[in-house]
Amino acid sequence: MSELHTLIDPKKIPLHVAIIMDGNGRWAQKKNLPRIEGHRRGAEIIEPIVEAAANIGIKYLSLFAFSTENWSRPADEVKALWQLLEMFFKMKLALINEKGVKIIFSGTFRRLPPTAKNVIEEAIRQTKNNNRITINFCINYGGRQEIVDAVNLWIQKRKPTEALTERKLSSCLYQPRLPDVDLLIRTSGEYRISNFMLWRLAYAELVFMNVLWPDFREKHLYLALHEYQKRERRFGGL
Ligand code: IPE
Ligand code: IPE
Ligand code: MG
Repeated sequence: MSELHTLIDPKKIPLHVAIIMDGNGRWAQKKNLPRIEGHRRGAEIIEPIVEAAANIGIKYLSLFAFSTENWSRPADEVKALWQLLEMFFKMKLALINEKGVKIIFSGTFRRLPPTAKNVIEEAIRQTKNNNRITINFCINYGGRQEIVDAVNLWIQKRKPTEALTERKLSSCLYQPRLPDVDLLIRTSGEYRISNFMLWRLAYAELVFMNVLWPDFREKHLYLALHEYQKRERRFGGL
């Protein structure tokens, strides 16, 4: 375990950490490899980072794996990403399950290849009783789409003349019981949210890191947590 680990105050661990796992393509291009090789290496990092997050006491970890806008990429990259996703769940599910990790999903199954949907549903089913850490896989996820889907769900459930509130809208999001994000980490050196978790990010602390996702290691997680613990969160108060 990295020495940086000792910098972390165990009493101030964020409940919900979200990561925009960005920079796979650039990692590959820098090495003159095809972009998909970057995605493959990026996928390999997920399991050890989940393990480190669980060990340090993070209870919810959201991982942005594919956005609703990523469909605009070349068809062969999109196809390879779905194949990789299926492979990831097929290869890693037993290990993930053994480690007490619960998998949940945020996004929409609309447009997803049926085989990808099947592996995700199987992972959710097999891990539903685990409680060491919850991994919220954000796949075919868009923050605006989530809010639109929540409003449409609300419209179906509402009584005539009943008004929408923040609490009611929260209860219609993809994962109603997921807490707000405390810490958002984005890798790759880009300073933007890219339509991730718009509702739940309202008061998140943002940490942007100049490391490409395939190079992300435990030490980067500890650095981000250390940075988070130095911040003063005010939530609009004093
Ligand atoms: C993130 O890496 C993974 C996905 C969006 C699927 P990118 O593929 O966006 O990598 P860069 O940003 O082009 O380097
Ligand atoms: C965000 O990264 C989506 C994921 C990491 C899955 P993008 O690479 O798609 O975002 P932009 O295009 O740089 O904003
Ligand atoms: Mg990117």
